[in-house]
Amino acid sequence: MDALQFLTWVRGPGLDIAVGIFVLGVLWRLIEIYTLGRKPDLAEARHAAGASGWHTVFRRSLPPPGMMKRSPVSYIGGYIFHVGLAIIVFLFAPHILLITNLTGLSWPGLPSQFVDLVTVVTMAAMIVVLVDRINKPAKRFLSTFEDWFTWAVTFLPVLTGWMAVQHLLLPYTLMLAIHILTVEILLIVLPFTKLFHAFTLIGSRWYNGRVNGQRGVPV
Ligand code: HEM
Ligand code: HEM
Repeated sequence: MDALQFLTWVRGPGLDIAVGIFVLGVLWRLIEIYTLGRKPDLAEARHAAGASGWHTVFRRSLPPPGMMKRSPVSYIGGYIFHVGLAIIVFLFAPHILLITNLTGLSWPGLPSQFVDLVTVVTMAAMIVVLVDRINKPAKRFLSTFEDWFTWAVTFLPVLTGWMAVQHLLLPYTLMLAIHILTVEILLIVLPFTKLFHAFTLIGSRWYNGRVNGQRGVPV
């Protein structure tokens, strides 16, 4: 198989398989989680300032007092690479084109030089959080295979996309095919690992805030 056949495969059947597993996987996990059910809380609701679902969603999106000082890399690095990922995926013209082909929706993209810069910043921030995870004994101790694996699966599409655009290491066609393959791996892995937090994070914070708010506890 030459590079062009490889590219044709990842763009066609490969993408169909990956998107299929992604969509079914996301639906499966969401149904699994949201049909769990809980016994109704029959106690009379208590009221306390700052105790509700939305308060908790907001509160947990900001560092608790003192934590910014203790763990600046986690917060700043974490926010930077997530914003970077969102810009790359949703505001890079070739990616928007793909979304347009799939859904018919379209919106303007950012200049590619700017996305290039965002890509470099995103990779740097991801490397910084990885090094922090390795260097801090507590973080390293708490890390499992899944943590290293999901980091790598997130990093690879960014690296290979950038290398394709920069014409680094391999011919463009082959690097682009590898780029799309790494995106497909990400799509397949996302629903079944902690990367599913993209779909559950807001809901779980809201749920914890709501349950505790019912008891008058602002968490
Ligand atoms: C199936 C989905 C995707 C397809 C078909 C795709 C396709 C492409 C193409 C064609 C390019 C190169 C455009 C050019 O040569 O100017 C590119 C670049 C890039 N892609 Fe993707 N991509 C996909 C998803 C993603 C995802 C999910 C990420 C990140 C998580 C990503 C990150 C990048 C980056 C960082 C670049 C280089 C941007 C730059 O440095 O200017 N791509 N992609
Ligand atoms: C709505 C979207 C998302 C939100 C609100 C979000 C939020 C978060 C938060 C709060 C953490 C920190 C968790 C912790 O410290 O234990 C985190 C970590 C992480 N997220 Fe996301 N995320 C989102 C989407 C994504 C997506 C789409 C990806 C990958 C494609 C991703 C990749 C990661 C990775 C790799 C980490 C771990 C970083 C590390 O090693 O420290 N996130 N995310």
